[in-house]
Amino acid sequence: MTKICVLAGDGIGPEIVAQALRVLAKVGERFGRSFEIENALIGGCAIDATGGPLPQETVDKCRASDAVLLGAVGGPKWDDLDPAIRPEKGLLGIRKELVLFANLRPAKLFSELRDACYLRPDITAKGLDVMVVRELTGGIYFGEPRGEELREGKRVGWNTMIYHEDEVRRIGVVAFEAARKRGKKVCSVDKANVLDVSRVWRAVMREVAAQYPDVEFSEMYVDNAAMQLVRDPSQFDVMVTGNLFGDILSDEAAAITGSIGMLPSASLGSGGPGLYEPIHGSAPDIAGQNKANPLATILSISMMLRHSLGMAEEADAVDAAVEKTLAQDYRTGDIMQPGAIPVGCKEMADAVLANI
Ligand code: IPM
Ligand code: MG
Repeated sequence: MTKICVLAGDGIGPEIVAQALRVLAKVGERFGRSFEIENALIGGCAIDATGGPLPQETVDKCRASDAVLLGAVGGPKWDDLDPAIRPEKGLLGIRKELVLFANLRPAKLFSELRDACYLRPDITAKGLDVMVVRELTGGIYFGEPRGEELREGKRVGWNTMIYHEDEVRRIGVVAFEAARKRGKKVCSVDKANVLDVSRVWRAVMREVAAQYPDVEFSEMYVDNAAMQLVRDPSQFDVMVTGNLFGDILSDEAAAITGSIGMLPSASLGSGGPGLYEPIHGSAPDIAGQNKANPLATILSISMMLRHSLGMAEEADAVDAAVEKTLAQDYRTGDIMQPGAIPVGCKEMADAVLANI
């Protein structure tokens, strides 16, 4: 029996998660697997119910599971709260609690959605299949000292971007291992022309690279990397970078595919349960209207099967079902194309189910 802890969260979170779980149940049926689902609160709904975005009970339930599936957190209702208890703190908190230091964010262009891509056809003709490996529990997101205060009557705020060599090494290893299973190229992204923290990052990354002579290694400053991603994304296979740069570059990589509603992610630690979630947010404007695209969450189930549960065949079946559904021209609003069949969140999942 495989235990999955489900954190549906806010906005469209509950509806996309509900549809993805139907797909998981179908996978169970088809492959003779049983999944036990445990629900827990995170984000705004947790604030409403308990006063905080990450109740201890949620952390305990996650720890007791084999993997965690998350929908999305946040929404305008909680935007004006004290920053210490905002919904986003729940997400940062669970990453830290489960030591999910490696965030894998694949951004690829589905051939059926080629027309949705924001880049010129001559650029996408060369392919777009990038895996951003983002360090997730360190860097400026968590560095101390941090704070805000009044200095001589003027407001100042500060954060600290800090990396310990062990943190760099472990994310480096994840990136190179991932590259070995893909295009065998790693590009490490930093700002070593300006930042001391990046010079340590770079030195350690070179040591890791030396252990992987079969993987082609390159380095790039983050400003150039942002530009190269739109100019010629085909040059990249795996990009490995720190928490803040990874936050930005993964949105950029996802957005240029034109289908942020399609992209899953995995957050992995060492040993404990991994956490899987769509890259997109809680989309409060369309919540509860059966309009959301469930495919990113369904593909997150596939990543969960593959990376945490050792069920590669099951994962392949989900991926193939999604591709087939797209080939059958089913489209939610975010990926709508002329002549395609418009469907809602549930109907999209129905189509995937039928293809499993
Ligand atoms: C992401 C999000 C989060 C982050 C926010 C919601 C805290 O942007 O997962 O990329 O910055 O990590
Ligand atoms: Mg982000």
